[in-house]
Amino acid sequence: MILQTFNLSKFFEGLKALDGVSISVPRDSLTLIIGPNGSGKTTFINTVTGFYRADGGRVEYEGKDITNLPPHRIFSEGIVRTFQISRPFKKLTVLENMLIPLNNPGERIRNTFIKNWIDFEREQVEKAYEILEFLNIDHLTFEKAETLSGGQLRLLEIGKALMTDAKLIAMDEPLAGVAPSLAHEILKKIRELCESGKTFLIVEHRLDIILDYADKIYVMGNGKVIAEGGREVIEKPEVVEVYLGA
Ligand SMILES: Nc1ncnc2c1ncn2[C@@H]1O[C@H](COP(=O)(O)OP(=O)(O)OP(=O)(O)O)[C@@H](O)[C@H]1O
Ligand SMILES: [Mg+2]
Repeated sequence: MILQTFNLSKFFEGLKALDGVSISVPRDSLTLIIGPNGSGKTTFINTVTGFYRADGGRVEYEGKDITNLPPHRIFSEGIVRTFQISRPFKKLTVLENMLIPLNNPGERIRNTFIKNWIDFEREQVEKAYEILEFLNIDHLTFEKAETLSGGQLRLLEIGKALMTDAKLIAMDEPLAGVAPSLAHEILKKIRELCESGKTFLIVEHRLDIILDYADKIYVMGNGKVIAEGGREVIEKPEVVEVYLGA
């Protein structure tokens, strides 16, 4: 297992957003977390990646305890995450967005980094080209991010994640607002990346599209894992019930 959580808990003023969540993510796989709105999926990603402090339990990455390390430390261990709402630098080109380091976002970059981006190691630029080509968005390299469609922005996010050498990529609803044909294309790319040593932990609502691509599925309900397994889990009565109740 590349990532494991043990009884991970996170409370918000009495609300048990995560109530003892234990999840195992096999290496070079796509592990999917599903569940109705408010079941704790984003909280799980946030807690694993250090954006929220856990109130209990443990997170292990590559056998190492990373519980409650700050986000930049978790990033340097090899975990990168994307957000439910993508926020690219709209006025910058796709290439420029690719070159902004993910571990160090913020205004400061605009001032110090971008002015010097041409000087940035050629290697990085070449890597960005290769990734954009792999993702079939190389024709957008010099377009401003604001001109991209929802699906293309998702691809840009994956591209940014690939610019890092992170082995584990955690994504929160990467298919939100993406047309079905492009969503399938994105998932096929993700499968290819699993073959080449990347591991994906994905939270997603688009079950019709994503289920067939997942190696392992966890279903969350009210801050707990209520089922796990292959695509048949969605037919379990407890899963049907939690979706109906939501
Ligand atoms: N920062 C926060 N402060 C207070 N409550 C929060 C916070 N973040 C999440 N919650 C609460 O924790 C619960 C789980 O929320 P979470 O965002 O993890 O759900 P989710 O499964 O990602 O839902 P969705 O599918 O709608 O994105 C919800 O009741 C939510 O209101
Ligand atoms: Mg969420």
